[in-house]
Amino acid sequence: MSNGQSRQISIVTVANEGELLQALAIREVVFIEEQHVPESFDRDANDSGAFHLLAFDGGHAVGTGRLVLLSKPPMGETGSWAQASRMAVLQSHRTAGVGSKLLEALEEEARRRRMAGITLHAPLSSIDFYKKRGYHPVGAVFQEAGMPHLEMHKKTSG
Ligand SMILES: CC(C)(COP(=O)(O)OP(=O)(O)OC[C@H]1O[C@@H](n2cnc3c(N)ncnc32)[C@H](O)[C@@H]1OP(=O)(O)O)[C@@H](O)C(=O)NCCC(=O)NCCS
Repeated sequence: MSNGQSRQISIVTVANEGELLQALAIREVVFIEEQHVPESFDRDANDSGAFHLLAFDGGHAVGTGRLVLLSKPPMGETGSWAQASRMAVLQSHRTAGVGSKLLEALEEEARRRRMAGITLHAPLSSIDFYKKRGYHPVGAVFQEAGMPHLEMHKKTSG
């Protein structure tokens, strides 16, 4: 699937164990197999309490992302903040708008929960993706899961 090929993508809130397993399966392909992220890093304690999304192309799950409510705002910010993480789209479905739809839906959920903003840890390879969607880098590059990352912030509006 590439830009221009319009397929009907639907974004669904993960509501049961089976759907969470589908999200974890996408993360396994994208992070563990493709990016060689250790499984012990990918599957962390936040999964049980997080808000998870799945993107479906027809009946096939092709993307996922999650939102974790933070107990305190990131450095330099005030109010309640959430962290977006584990954004993953199968290679076959990238650059066709799936990631944008997932991010928009996470932002909508953050607004619904009256979060002041969203923070995330972006691998350097996806900085442009997040910049185009209103996130700005904060601080210095750091290593996470064996890859250089930047923290990025976006205040919610509305
Ligand atoms: C980052 C990711 C989720 C984006 O998903 P996607 O479905 O390809 O995103 P979209 O199609 O909505 O948007 C793609 C846009 O971002 C740009 N883009 C996507 N990945 C990019 C990258 N690695 N570097 C630079 N630009 C990128 C595309 O050129 C496109 O630009 P446009 O807005 O001008 O059209 C996907 O590339 C992915 O799963 N990457 C591997 C996992 C990862 O690194 N996740 C992020 C960290 S948690």
